[in-house]
Amino acid sequence: MKDISTIIRNRRTIKPKAMKEGSVVPKEVIIEVLENAIWAPNHGKTEPWHFLVYTGNALKHFCGLHADVYKQGAGDKFNDAKYNALANWYKTVGCMIVVLHRRSSQSRIRENEEKEAVACAVQNMWLTVEAYNYAGMWATGGGTYMPEITEILPMEPNDNLMGFFLIGERSVDGVPGIRKPLNEKVSWMEE
Ligand SMILES: Cc1cc2nc3c(=O)[nH]c(=O)nc-3n(C[C@H](O)[C@H](O)[C@H](O)COP(=O)(O)O)c2cc1C
Repeated sequence: MKDISTIIRNRRTIKPKAMKEGSVVPKEVIIEVLENAIWAPNHGKTEPWHFLVYTGNALKHFCGLHADVYKQGAGDKFNDAKYNALANWYKTVGCMIVVLHRRSSQSRIRENEEKEAVACAVQNMWLTVEAYNYAGMWATGGGTYMPEITEILPMEPNDNLMGFFLIGERSVDGVPGIRKPLNEKVSWMEE
């Protein structure tokens, strides 16, 4: 197992086009990714997440529907390459986890804090994917914010779609990451 700093710093966004054609993600890995997701911190113990896991034919079917949602909703911004990329996700993505913020109507916790907890869950998933040497990506493009997306996902009325977490086998190694130096991002108050 890699040490935690190596996992955190090596974690990269690896897009479907850089995943291996016909990727398979073993169910044990998917379950470990989800188990780690639900150990994310969450204010008030609301555990405000729900995950929809797509693999195989369900994923292929979803990709066609998603591309069509994008086509309907994109209007003037419609782009053929984007449509094809969405329709073809299933060719390289082995597992897609739809990330939902499931808000309880009784929740005393602010909505933004619940969404922050869900983002922590996604980071847990991503780091787990990195530890297992698979490729991961949090995708919020396509139809994510289009109202019609709710028609093709089994969502509940209080669900907010936070995006699609895509997992596949790697076809590239060691994608370089870019970050500004720490001293540009930190102010120390010491005296
Ligand atoms: C909430 C969120 C949504 C994102 N959505 C997309 C996306 O739709 N498309 C994309 O290419 N990358 C997306 N990303 C990934 C970022 O582009 C990526 O994290 C950033 O470029 C830094 O690269 P790294 O993840 O390799 O460190 C998203 C990241 C976050 C946190």
